[in-house]
Amino acid sequence: MKPVFIDVDTGVDDALALLFALQSPLLDVIGISTVSGNVHVDHTYRNTLAVLDIAQAPDIPVARGMDAPLIRPLHTAAEIHGESGFGDIQLPEVVRNGVEEHGVDLMIRKVKESPEPVTLILLGPLTNMAVALKKEPSIQDNIRELVIMGGAGAKGGNVTPVAEFNIYVDPDAAHVVFSSGLPIRLVTWDVCMQAVLHPEENMQLKETQTPVAQYAYRLIQFLRDNNDETFLCDPSAVCAVIDESVIQTEVLPVEVETQEGLTRGMTIIDVRPFLQVDPADPRPKLQVAMNIERERFSQLFIQTLLQQG
Ligand code: BDR
Ligand code: CA
Repeated sequence: MKPVFIDVDTGVDDALALLFALQSPLLDVIGISTVSGNVHVDHTYRNTLAVLDIAQAPDIPVARGMDAPLIRPLHTAAEIHGESGFGDIQLPEVVRNGVEEHGVDLMIRKVKESPEPVTLILLGPLTNMAVALKKEPSIQDNIRELVIMGGAGAKGGNVTPVAEFNIYVDPDAAHVVFSSGLPIRLVTWDVCMQAVLHPEENMQLKETQTPVAQYAYRLIQFLRDNNDETFLCDPSAVCAVIDESVIQTEVLPVEVETQEGLTRGMTIIDVRPFLQVDPADPRPKLQVAMNIERERFSQLFIQTLLQQG
């Protein structure tokens, strides 16, 4: 099993990503930190604990992390996800306790303690990761890679024409993380929009009487678009870790716009065809997702969620 640490701003699609990771027999989730993003961290923390209860996950430590971006005021997506982060979906009363430790300290400790290098799956604004790298740079030595849901390519963003939410909320943190020199796979908004689940695929969950399948069905229904289809952002990044071959990537220079204004949070991904990626080029080189094999993704997602615990 691959040791993974997950950072979330739960959120409906983070919840689906968590269920996907927790149900996967290939991943060992060693800890979870929560961050402000979709909604304030007070809610993302509580929501995450509730999701772990639903999954009847073993005792995985969950900690409350940064409540605001590094420099700017918090911009949430409460208008989409509701104040609580779950729209009109009722979550059960939380039974399990989180840990007192700060999310950043939990991330640092779990990475350092792991006998094997850890993959971090980052599904919200990158604030916790940036603070962890600044506070304890030595964690880099025990990180296998960062798999990030974030950034926008040629098809544009979801907050502005050029910026995707996770990067838009804390571009300064994204700059710190992208410049760290760590191996990074970036699962962008463009690729997430290809990760479509058809209604008949979701019906398989509806027909399965486990708490995980039933909740996942309702969460997917909440996210569906006018054509009754749902594209799954955060679960795509989890898929990239469970089975790398489902998402094809290219190594490309990527920079983040940290200025305010029209291009705040834009990821400038250099795809120019004549560009030879030059090792002397100082820009961060990331493995940028270019394509997801939709059918393989949806099969893996549904089959994993259908598994009995
Ligand atoms: C990302 O922003 C959040 O709203 C989602 O949870 C996802 O991580 C998509 O831009
Ligand atoms: Ca998220």
